[in-house]
Amino acid sequence: MQISVIGCGYLGATHAAGMAELGYDVLGVELDGAKLAELREGRVPFFEPGLLELLSRHVASGRLRFTSDLQEAADVADVHFLCVGTPQRADTIAADLSHVDAAIDALAPLLNRPCLVVGKSTVPVGTAERLAARLAELAPAGSGAELAWNPEFLREGFAVADTLEPDRLVFGVTAQGPVEVLRNVYSRAVEAGTPVVVTDLQTAELVKVAANAFLATKISFINAMAEVCDLVGADVAQLADAIGHDARIGRKFLNAGIGYGGGCLPKDVRAFQHRAEELGASRTTSLLRDVDAINQQRRAHVVVLALDELEDRPRGRVAVLGAAFKPHSDDIRDSPALWVSAELERRGHHVVVHDPEAIPNARTLFPQLEYAADVEGALDGADLVLHLTEWPVYREIDPAKAAARVGRPRVIDGRNALDVGAWRAAGWSVRSLGRP
Ligand code: UDX
Repeated sequence: MQISVIGCGYLGATHAAGMAELGYDVLGVELDGAKLAELREGRVPFFEPGLLELLSRHVASGRLRFTSDLQEAADVADVHFLCVGTPQRADTIAADLSHVDAAIDALAPLLNRPCLVVGKSTVPVGTAERLAARLAELAPAGSGAELAWNPEFLREGFAVADTLEPDRLVFGVTAQGPVEVLRNVYSRAVEAGTPVVVTDLQTAELVKVAANAFLATKISFINAMAEVCDLVGADVAQLADAIGHDARIGRKFLNAGIGYGGGCLPKDVRAFQHRAEELGASRTTSLLRDVDAINQQRRAHVVVLALDELEDRPRGRVAVLGAAFKPHSDDIRDSPALWVSAELERRGHHVVVHDPEAIPNARTLFPQLEYAADVEGALDGADLVLHLTEWPVYREIDPAKAAARVGRPRVIDGRNALDVGAWRAAGWSVRSLGRP
């Protein structure tokens, strides 16, 4: 079986390398010249543990190739995976579908042979049905070119494992044929017992946005509890542990703090809110609006706490630990840490940011901030330390040594991940979110 992967960003590059690992001949299609050049040389244009090794191995063996030519993909592939991005639009909170539409409009007229086009991008419900009609209209192969929707649930930082060993497979289809093709493509996971859920197109589209909306709701729920805990002097971390012991609730995604960021949760919640409003689902719209609002409020709250600590220092020096939207990633899309950093800089403070992986990306988007090559460089002379992305290296900081470097030992733990007892014992004033 020959496979093409259209769009080799985060999702596509990982999926292409994963398909090659499963033994298929894979052709990745990428239009961005700089990205294409890197991929062709077996390099990964972003940081993802384990991906470089996988991708470079299959590029070297010739099983994984990259091109900018859709015609080449149309000529050889039996299955085309559509992995282009659906970012938030600039003018509204809706998803920008221009890349998805452009890919189908460019690919469909080239499809002379029977094939399956499989959407993996996250799209508003109803998109797949529209694309299926477009495919039927434009493809010379006619009904031989079919469409299925197979959402992707990979997490950054665990993308390789999530691709090779997914916890479920969702096949959104309008006929039985594509189910057999997809079972075949994913035969290794299917034989290993991975649950397969076969649905119609609209349910498959909704599964993805509902999953992300649920995760976001869980985080915003615990952050709402953190707000209440702050008002009464309770401890949200203990609360999360205690309710998390109930298997129906579970402890995962109950870490209160600065809120969620990244390239998926924020824009998917907003796009879903927008779509729900279009559909007239008013309660869903207001639920999702509140989830987003609680999340945005957490960042603002950290800024308020920081300004309070810096009241006597109009030009304070602030050390920010962490720039990526979460640890084990260099992704800074909608990063709460950088949002807070930029806000404090805008208010006249001197912000020095450290991150183990994300500094090059952060520097491009936020050139006004200063960046430190190591933790010590960020801490030196700081009036206030903000712990905003919970990389393991920050939990290894010796609070006593850190206290000797800073101007004054004050820290706000925006991720509730530091050992508060140890930091206080070393003379630090520690403020947490939702903890006394
Ligand atoms: C998410 C989904 O998990 C994944 O299934 C989907 O395919 C893409 O979107 P990802 O964006 O990689 O994956 O990040 P995730 O691990 O879900 O974390 C999202 C954000 O939530 C991060 O900013 C993280 O710091 C934050 N978070 C997570 C919390 O604030 N608290 C938690 O308890 C968990």
